[in-house]
Amino acid sequence: MNKIAQQLNETLKESGVYHMLSSSGKRLYFPHGIVSQSQQATEAGCQYNATAGVALEDHHYITHPYFSGFSCDISSDQMVKYAPTTGSAELRKLWDAHLMEANPSLKDVSHSLPVVTGGITHALSIAASLFTDESTTVLIPSPCWDNYPLVFEDNRGAHLRHYQMFDEHDCFTVESWQEQFLSIDSDVIVALFNFPHNPTGFTPDQSQMMQIAGLLKSLALKGKKIVAIVDDAYFGLFHTVDCSPFSLFSYLADLHENILAVKCDGATKESLVWGFRVGFITYANKGLTEAGYEALLEKTKGAVRTSISSASMVSQSLLINVMKSESYPHSVQRVKDIMRRRYERIVNCIDTYDHASRFTMLPANSGYFISLRYEGNAYDLRLSLLKEGIAVIALDEHLIRIAYSSVDDHMIEHIVKKLFEGDCIDGN
Ligand SMILES: Cc1ncc(COP(=O)(O)O)c(C=O)c1O
Repeated sequence: MNKIAQQLNETLKESGVYHMLSSSGKRLYFPHGIVSQSQQATEAGCQYNATAGVALEDHHYITHPYFSGFSCDISSDQMVKYAPTTGSAELRKLWDAHLMEANPSLKDVSHSLPVVTGGITHALSIAASLFTDESTTVLIPSPCWDNYPLVFEDNRGAHLRHYQMFDEHDCFTVESWQEQFLSIDSDVIVALFNFPHNPTGFTPDQSQMMQIAGLLKSLALKGKKIVAIVDDAYFGLFHTVDCSPFSLFSYLADLHENILAVKCDGATKESLVWGFRVGFITYANKGLTEAGYEALLEKTKGAVRTSISSASMVSQSLLINVMKSESYPHSVQRVKDIMRRRYERIVNCIDTYDHASRFTMLPANSGYFISLRYEGNAYDLRLSLLKEGIAVIALDEHLIRIAYSSVDDHMIEHIVKKLFEGDCIDGN
């Protein structure tokens, strides 16, 4: 059990409440990870705050001009009524059209309509509740977003196995995953993929995507049943030409009867509405009949009903309007351009520093972040930078994440400079 959870349990043991907790209640805790480090940076008033996975400019969220001239152009009904359990039909169709436009192969492949969830985390929780329990092994990348262990292990009781994003030479090679994937004994394998990857900012190229598909197909051919959960939170933020522009979901959607592809994505980052809490879950399985899809969606509806009952109506109504507004594609493209520019700037800047230093930048070509492996103590370095008004995330003792998404272009040099200087101080 996690140490933080153990401490919380010790405190609760002083009262009778501990004995009332379920096994998942006993395992749950709030990690001292990304969110809590980010809150600490905000409380400390850090000017150079590169902690959060959001797109900021001059300390404001970069979003649609539609919202700044906002006068209520949705009716009170569109705001306050209950949304259908699976979400607004119009929004589901709009998102489906978006999926097919970005992944044209999906036009010819059967897949479910997306179901609206209360953000991407909720979509992942639904996948966890439908496909995992104490008997399930879930393959997740290492490093990974710090909420996966909480969702799958602490909340659901599933067993986690980590597959390494990069091999010992810091290369992305699907071969290096073979051993982990092939060693799972159970008939059902749940594997989670996340590209662009949080925290490294890496997306495979098209041939690597096909290799992942090939690995899963080889297991499917052996009779394994595979649930491939594809977390596409940062989909579309591809900064170099080598990134596959298509989601792994589209490579898996029609691959084999034994593979169920589950796409968890959302308006959060893709549509620049972080706090709207609108995500989606979409399924594809070769040969699944219409009745099969309907049954799966009914189960999903049950999972929504038992958790949030339905997602926010006002968010869905506003999202529909903004997605249909003329300026929508420009706003989304503008953020992609800003992120690409910041990515290039931070990579170039890191390049100017000593390559024999104690930092190694992990492969990055997409998303909101870069990560550096650090030979010193990342927790100590984070705290010493915080005193100078620079906030980054220490993901573990030797891994630092910089969210260039949330700092202005001109701040990047200063952050990188202070990071490398901080190393000198720490190393002394
Ligand atoms: C990889 C990844 N998945 C999912 C999410 C959660 O998205 P949401 O805020 O829509 O729950 C995040 C948010 O930071 C993320 O980084």
